Amino acid sequence: MLEDKKFYIKTHGCQMNEYDSDKLDDVLQHHFKMERTNKPESADLLFLNTCSIREKAQEKVFHQLGRWKKYKSNKPDLLIAVGGCVATQEGNKIKSRSPQVDIIFGPQTIHRLPKMIEEVINKKKKVQVDVSFPEIEKFDYLPSSKKKTPSAFVSIMEGCSKYCTFCVVPYTRGEEVNRRFDDIIFEVSNLSKLGAKEIVLLGQNVNAYKSENYTKDKVNFADLIRYVSYIDGIERIRHTTSHPIDFGEDLINEYKNPKLADNLHLPVQSGSDSILMRMKRKHTSLEYKSIIRKIRKIRPDIHLTSDFIIGYPGETDNEFTETINFIYDVNFTDAYSFIYSPRPGTPATLEKDNISMETKKKRLYELQNIIREQSIAYSKSMHGTHQRVLVEERSKKKPGEYFGRASNNKIVNFKSRENYIGNFVDVEITNVTQNIVFGEIINQNIEKEKQNARAKIAK
Ligand code: SAH
Ligand code: F3S
Repeated sequence: MLEDKKFYIKTHGCQMNEYDSDKLDDVLQHHFKMERTNKPESADLLFLNTCSIREKAQEKVFHQLGRWKKYKSNKPDLLIAVGGCVATQEGNKIKSRSPQVDIIFGPQTIHRLPKMIEEVINKKKKVQVDVSFPEIEKFDYLPSSKKKTPSAFVSIMEGCSKYCTFCVVPYTRGEEVNRRFDDIIFEVSNLSKLGAKEIVLLGQNVNAYKSENYTKDKVNFADLIRYVSYIDGIERIRHTTSHPIDFGEDLINEYKNPKLADNLHLPVQSGSDSILMRMKRKHTSLEYKSIIRKIRKIRPDIHLTSDFIIGYPGETDNEFTETINFIYDVNFTDAYSFIYSPRPGTPATLEKDNISMETKKKRLYELQNIIREQSIAYSKSMHGTHQRVLVEERSKKKPGEYFGRASNNKIVNFKSRENYIGNFVDVEITNVTQNIVFGEIINQNIEKEKQNARAKIAK
């Protein structure tokens, strides 16, 4: 009944949402043989995968649904579904504020969508809502991905049990649940067979990962990285996001593993101990620095990025200065920074927020300028180095140019007559302007790699 019809997915928010949207795509193609389109106006099913981490992200949802309403008046059979974190938090509000919506589902109920869609089409129910957290059931019922990409996301755990005072994630995605170790290894092997060379291990707190292997031995995140690195064809491993309190010696030591990429995103939120305590981050600025010092002993050039929240309730000038000094001290090579946004139901909303928006914006601006300088300095330090780049795409603007990512996750642009998409090339960095990195291919082993890849496909 839905065969040959088209669906469109709009994704807001984090990489976890990107991953969920890919899974949504797999589910629809697998169950209904539907096709994905990038034109919402030609779709029969519209999906909005939402984010509620900050207020602005949430406002975007109702604006988007307003724009989609007019499609529905032209095409009454059009189905509109809303998923993700806003769906979990505001399920009933969406139902009353946006009657054009047919289905509301949470991040953990994607696998139940086919049934929900069928029930709406058969008009058994008018609006379908399922935003529950059925433990790890989601992974068991999702079809395995058939997509061929050089870099593939693999979700290893869901949710978060840390309950930082400002954060909505534990309430929208539920508590930490680990995926079965064997299932992860199986998925990575499959992706490798399909041509993936890089794996990004995903979760809200990947380094809290704990499970058992097939011999019932306990395994943690460092073990998981090591096992994944043993899988034939996997040459690079990334992960996001980790938390400082779960960053043990074994994980630090795993940075000796050459397959583990040369970047680390380790959110710290603030460099002030009193704020860290009020946020319930459960570590000090010194403990954070100690982790970084040990990692830099193994990886002196690691690309270290973080997240910062500015204007947490009651943040004094002095506490803000502590954060600035911390940024200078640690020398972050990039960061995301946000003005604190009160999230309904989180403990921080009970604290008195007495800082003016003007001060918050001024602080954010100052912090971002420093981070920008450190980021440019890091890119410039790449000049003259040799980088192994996993080629992702052809440049849309400049013919004959391609780009990909170096191990440190920096995008590197280079010219090439041959199409090396999906392969590694060795590049010498010859020019860095502001933050854009250019290089020239120096790798002579490409042909060999291509032959290996062809042989693998032929097998
Ligand atoms: N799991 C990650 C963070 C997930 S949320 C961790 O361990 O920190 C992504 C980022 O959004 C956070 O790191 C934080 O910097 C930001 N963020 C979360 N809640 C926020 C809020 N209420 N206001 C502003 N920024 C917020
Ligand atoms: Fe949010 Fe803190 Fe977890 S920032 S995702 S509650 S580690």
